[in-house]
Amino acid sequence: MAYNLLKGKRGIIFGALDEKSMAWQVALRCYEEGAQITLSNAPIALRMGKINELATLCGNALVIGADATSSEELENVFNKSIEHLGGKIDFILHSIGMSPNVRKKIAYTESNYDNFLKTLDISALSFHKVMQTAMKLDALNEWASILGLSYIAAQRVFPTYNDMADAKALLESIARSFGYHYGIAKKVRVNTISQSPTPTTAGSGVEGFDSFFSYAESMSPLGNATAEECADYCVTLFSDLTRKVTMQNLFHDGGFSYTGVSVDLVMRLASTMK
Ligand SMILES: NC(=O)c1ccc[n+]([C@@H]2O[C@H](COP(=O)([O-])OP(=O)(O)OC[C@H]3O[C@@H](n4cnc5c(N)ncnc54)[C@H](O)[C@@H]3O)[C@@H](O)[C@H]2O)c1
Repeated sequence: MAYNLLKGKRGIIFGALDEKSMAWQVALRCYEEGAQITLSNAPIALRMGKINELATLCGNALVIGADATSSEELENVFNKSIEHLGGKIDFILHSIGMSPNVRKKIAYTESNYDNFLKTLDISALSFHKVMQTAMKLDALNEWASILGLSYIAAQRVFPTYNDMADAKALLESIARSFGYHYGIAKKVRVNTISQSPTPTTAGSGVEGFDSFFSYAESMSPLGNATAEECADYCVTLFSDLTRKVTMQNLFHDGGFSYTGVSVDLVMRLASTMK
């Protein structure tokens, strides 16, 4: 059901690869709620993914290629988006993550440091670059809302999440720090959503993903949050109904983050001890 929560708003969605992507679902929901959007992803993802299908579903949205580690390419995304959408931007989704160490199955304790720097650059510093570029170009309207997507490995150890855990800790810190400055400068809100494990290309690439997923499912009183539910949450945070929410890391995980242990898990462990 649509509520017109984003009627008249203009947004940029970074990171939709295919229909499993969190950004894909967010783009669909934002369009459904009355927003006009542009889509951006890395040039290789434009070639390999299905972003043009999404663009069609979102009212022939403009697709703009950009490596999010390049400030010049991000400038192009903002300039083209403002020109195409006919005004400054009201919301941004940063849904970008990649770790060469995870991809190459290199253990955390044996991290290759060139890979590590790439993980931080793509998965965290790019969030800073998106905001720095927007600020430099004065590309956002007052009360604009910026979201990044995080994971609870920023706070607790999930051993195979590898250097992405450090990238998420940095991402959340950047949201707080930039959120302060952007709030003062232009009343712009900056938050991260810490989402349940979700079966996407990036998510499934983490070693042991299926176990993470079912562990979280059995630990969450409401069950894991899906990508579609994450999209609903993003819409509320892009809307005018959450104007004073900023500099937060917001758990969207069915209660996982505050559950010590669940009855379901205790029963299952007990049955293995008999
Ligand atoms: N899937 C999960 O379990 C989960 C849980 C919590 C948070 N997240 C986060 O959600 C975000 C989106 O991931 P997803 O799960 O939808 O997977 P996904 O693979 O669909 O999306 C990741 C995106 O990052 C893009 N990307 C990678 N390098 C880039 C670069 N240099 N420049 C621009 N874009 C680049 C990819 O092309 C891809 O579209 C990531 O930040 C991820 O860490 C995912």
